[in-house]
Amino acid sequence: MHPRCDEAPQWARLQAHYQAQGRGLDLRRAFAEDAARFAHFSQQAPHVFADLSKNLWDRQAEALLLEMARACELESSRDAMFAGQAINSTEGRAALHTLLRRPPGVALPGDEPFVAQALREVHATLDAMLAFAEAVRADGQITDIVSIGIGGSDLGPHMAVRALEAYQIPGKRFHFVSNIDGHELASVLNSVRPEGALFIVASKTFTTLETMTNARSALDWFVAEGGRDVARHFVALTANVAKAAEWGMTTTFGFWDWVGGRYSLWSAIGLPIAIAIGAAGFRDFLAGAHAMDEHFRTQPLAHNLPVRLALLDLWYRNFVGLPSRCIAPYHARLQRLPAYLQQLEMESNGKRVDHEGRTLPMATAPVLWGEPGSNGQHAFFQLLHQGPDVQALEILAVRDCAHGLRGHHEMLLASALAQAQALMQGRASDCGHRHFPGNRPSSFLLLNALTPASLGALLALQEHRVFTSGSLWGINSFDQWGVELGKQLAQDLQPRLQSGDVSGLDASTAGLVQRLRS
Ligand code: F6P
Repeated sequence: MHPRCDEAPQWARLQAHYQAQGRGLDLRRAFAEDAARFAHFSQQAPHVFADLSKNLWDRQAEALLLEMARACELESSRDAMFAGQAINSTEGRAALHTLLRRPPGVALPGDEPFVAQALREVHATLDAMLAFAEAVRADGQITDIVSIGIGGSDLGPHMAVRALEAYQIPGKRFHFVSNIDGHELASVLNSVRPEGALFIVASKTFTTLETMTNARSALDWFVAEGGRDVARHFVALTANVAKAAEWGMTTTFGFWDWVGGRYSLWSAIGLPIAIAIGAAGFRDFLAGAHAMDEHFRTQPLAHNLPVRLALLDLWYRNFVGLPSRCIAPYHARLQRLPAYLQQLEMESNGKRVDHEGRTLPMATAPVLWGEPGSNGQHAFFQLLHQGPDVQALEILAVRDCAHGLRGHHEMLLASALAQAQALMQGRASDCGHRHFPGNRPSSFLLLNALTPASLGALLALQEHRVFTSGSLWGINSFDQWGVELGKQLAQDLQPRLQSGDVSGLDASTAGLVQRLRS
């Protein structure tokens, strides 16, 4: 295993630098003193331009962080991921989502022996999945695509289908059902007809309680409503094809145990995206991600955008002590992006032990939250501007829009710029209520247009950033043991809600069970 960031000699130097310089850094002064600050802290990566200059760091902090990343042998961890080594140590698996975007026939130095064959399987499955997507697109009888999945089997496809609405095939509606709360499925079933529906049951394991419960109810509804031909109207996306077959689902697209759930939208799990934007669009989506993979894999750390973002994240979390990062996409169609990023970051790095199970002495993943701008401005930006705690903020803007309504887009972009400016500059006032302290940070990510390729690149950027901070913290970013306990306890509590047996429960849970039964 590589050294952890707190074991690197730069750790203490970063602490000292924060005490000496970082604590007192004033962004307004930093810009005044350094005419090249914007040029230094901004960069173009594939499809994504990033301005990191309005952040509470200086060149020395960045240089020390880069040195620390080298001391932690980040490049070798990165190469191990791309090569298919079993970096998911607790589950003994590779984390090879990058292979899903790798063009056919490409070999990388150090590839594990299974990778070449795996890449052939990736492309065979991709071709079959895209041919199916095209057939569905051409099938005028199918009007409603109902995707049933949860977590990584929902958040990615849901987010991407909404994001790429401008590319969506007309005449088909897309529904996403994830919650075990029957209200969600019921309202979708009320709006579709069995002969017009294609149900996509997406589950890596094909055992997840929520998805199986929703799939069972959808199947029962389909039969009760006179639906015929389950094989035509139900398709399964899973790494457990045998289990899907037990359900009578014979149209299945598989993937592999080395694709983590929250990294799976590039696999067969992306079928709803492929139906929405077509085979060519989906290939563009993969190509955008691959371009970012190549950037991450080959660029020196100092010019490597996922690395720079991750170092900033680590600086904020471990030295400045910021507890959260607000995600503000200034694009209404990126509404599901904060939820998607929450799983990516918090399920990957929301951990308190390292690879060897040792308790970490430092903080790890921040809390991620957010909403599209400009809506967020009228809800929680008050806290960003004047709350007692400083939060990290990531603004995402898109230069071009896909609508013809005059005036809207300029005002949207102006609002994004203005928020970043206001947070940094602040405004002095004698009246405490009207005083804006300023010196509040923001990062600004910019796409020229929201396209399949730029979305692919943006998501790969976020994946690699999470990988980088996870590697430096010494975390296994690819397991998720923390979701298990609640699942097990729910299995125990469900029969108790029926029987009323509260024996052995704590007083609060027992009291609530009794309330729920009254
Ligand atoms: O919440 C835990 C989790 O395992 C996620 O990591 C995963 O994305 C989700 O459940 C869904 O799992 P599956 O695709 O197996 O249904």
